[in-house]
Amino acid sequence: MARHLITSAIPYINGIKHLGNLVGSQLPADLFARYQRGRGHEVLFLCATDEHGTPAELAAAKAGQPVAEYCAEMHDVQAKIAQGFRLSFDHFGRSSSPQNQKLTQHFAGVLADRGLIREVSETQMYSPTDGRYLPDRYIEGTCPNCGFESARGDQCDNCTKQLDPVDLINPHSTISGATDLEMRETKHLYLRQSTMKDELEKWIDTREGWPVLTTSIAKKWLNDGDGLQDRGITRDLDWGVPVKKGDADWPGMEGKVFYVWFDAPIEYIACAQEWVDAGKGDDWSRWWRTDAGAEDVTYTQFMGKDNVPFHTLSFPATILGSGEPWKLVDYIKSFNYLNYEGGQFSTSRGRGVFMDQALEVLPSDYWRWWLLSHAPESSDAEFTWENFQASVNKDLSDVLGNFVSRVTKFCRSKFGEEVPAGGSYGPAEEALIAELTERLTAYQGHMDAIEVRKAAAELRAIWAAGNEYLQSAAPWAAFKEDPDRAAAIVRLSLNLIRLYAVLSAPFIPDTSDVLKEALKLDSLDWPEDLPEALNALAPGATFTVPENLFRKIADEEREDWQARFSGTRG
Ligand code: MF3
Ligand code: ZN
Repeated sequence: MARHLITSAIPYINGIKHLGNLVGSQLPADLFARYQRGRGHEVLFLCATDEHGTPAELAAAKAGQPVAEYCAEMHDVQAKIAQGFRLSFDHFGRSSSPQNQKLTQHFAGVLADRGLIREVSETQMYSPTDGRYLPDRYIEGTCPNCGFESARGDQCDNCTKQLDPVDLINPHSTISGATDLEMRETKHLYLRQSTMKDELEKWIDTREGWPVLTTSIAKKWLNDGDGLQDRGITRDLDWGVPVKKGDADWPGMEGKVFYVWFDAPIEYIACAQEWVDAGKGDDWSRWWRTDAGAEDVTYTQFMGKDNVPFHTLSFPATILGSGEPWKLVDYIKSFNYLNYEGGQFSTSRGRGVFMDQALEVLPSDYWRWWLLSHAPESSDAEFTWENFQASVNKDLSDVLGNFVSRVTKFCRSKFGEEVPAGGSYGPAEEALIAELTERLTAYQGHMDAIEVRKAAAELRAIWAAGNEYLQSAAPWAAFKEDPDRAAAIVRLSLNLIRLYAVLSAPFIPDTSDVLKEALKLDSLDWPEDLPEALNALAPGATFTVPENLFRKIADEEREDWQARFSGTRG
């Protein structure tokens, strides 16, 4: 039994994510976790909310809530929606947890002890009225380039010019409106990544079979321009992990917190500690410490392509720099973007379908199937309602749903609700079993390699093979002349339903459960031996005809949804 540690990039706390976010990390990570569990392996699948940083503070302010309260509420909202999509995290943690706070301070402490942190003096906008330094997004003023009056400290939204807060004319605080801003000298911590360039490059060069998308992004950051830059890991914010050196205060760093991208990946580890502290597991170190058994763990990370530099360089720099025996990632699976109806999903403009809305419209399996079978792997992909309608109606309803319904209803009408005896598998059955044996090997190969689209296509082909077999074996015709022949066909077909329940579970877990219940199965073992698996349901085993598995999407509904999700979410 192998052991798989699987993490999904942890979603920002502010706001409900859209389907593009979902398919870029959490959903494929869930697919892989379910598959590995299905194969009988031991899996620890972790995700969390990413709760620190300016966006969380701003969103809380907009909601008129204290930030801690806002985060606690939004965490529950996201956890509930994740459940709705059947994301099977072993734990859904929080980057603001005490465990992560402690561990983040620990890493900073050991990195400092090893001479990998330097202090830098900078000047920064301070607002005496607000009693705090203002990050770029908290400052607005008139753009020196185009005269736009609400340009932000980092960029003008009107002419897109990149700005420095000091460039703004009449700058003011967006918190209080105060204009008495002044430049003050302040100290910040930098992680000396530049001194670790060779070590990081060597590590990346020895990663076998990493996708080019992943390594090329890492290489670019390692070698572009002046090479890998030291990275500021502290911020002047109230909300975040207080800067400390382990347990000790850090002189000169009072009132500062670590930068959100420093503490967020550390939450992958802290989340395993949260999992133990929640009573769901009894040892996190055998997953994370190579001196405690994690040597045998295969660690796979899932993320969107914009996250790759942080996972190939920054987080490994933290881990390698610590000199401690933490587990490093073995494989990074990254995704391109999903677009929406000829444009982009937009959280700020409410364009596209958001996770909560999707579940109001249709059950999660419909979405899981479409998203995974169209995952933006080799390039960006696009969601259109037409395509969604076509996939659901064809793949799910016509192919899988129809097969299950025809087989179970036909059996009920001729043989009753039990697997019929009589007859035996002949050449048509042998041919199907041979085809499926090959397809199963291909399916497993794609799942092992996390080739999501290819795996979906193979699964669809496995469903279609059953349909074609049933169509040409035509038990309804055979029944009149040779009921034993019809019995053998139906017996194999019922066994195919059982096979589909197992193989489809990673993609459409609810449907798999419905099938499992209909066939009255307690467990679903992976079909290690296909001929054997297609004889597993023996004559006499009873079943019930399940409800229609999938409903078709009508044109009018599709048009309704198209209009409803075109923008401006309430
Ligand atoms: N919240 C980030 C995003 O959505 C991802 C953080 S991943 C972690 O892009 F590694 F930092 F945890
Ligand atoms: Zn401008």
